[in-house]
Amino acid sequence: MDSVEIAFRLNGSPVRCAVPPTLALLELLRDRFGLTGTKLGCGEGECGACTVLVDGEARDACITLAVDVDGREVTTVEGLPAAVQRAFVANGAVQCGFCSPGMEAAVAGWVAREKALGRADLARAIEGNLCRCTGYVKILDAAEAFARESSS
Ligand code: FES
Ligand code: FES
Repeated sequence: MDSVEIAFRLNGSPVRCAVPPTLALLELLRDRFGLTGTKLGCGEGECGACTVLVDGEARDACITLAVDVDGREVTTVEGLPAAVQRAFVANGAVQCGFCSPGMEAAVAGWVAREKALGRADLARAIEGNLCRCTGYVKILDAAEAFARESSS
């Protein structure tokens, strides 16, 4: 199948590449650009381990086609504000850490675009993200701390 030329912004920098039409964004990010912070969990859009931001909205990179980000802005965990990672570490929200890049992307995207930043609102931000270490209380503590810091 012929490759398709795409151009988009990745963590703030313009990039251009040729991709097969069926290539998943997750594979492009990890294998072509070496951005291995974003994880492959279920590969079916169920767990949120692969969450990245596309134009500021959380998207499952495992079920997003690379060709669909042509002309858009993609942010991976490597491009998130350092404060979100600091909040997760400071609040003990990282256990095995497998879900953390996706959780942090979902929280950072929500805080950047939503006005509702209460605990229940932040729970909605991560409703598509599963943590098998069952660390949701501390993850929400971290999300609240980051939201507080971002709005002060
Ligand atoms: S790996 Fe993409 S949603 Fe699970
Ligand atoms: S910290 Fe282990 S899956 Fe969430």
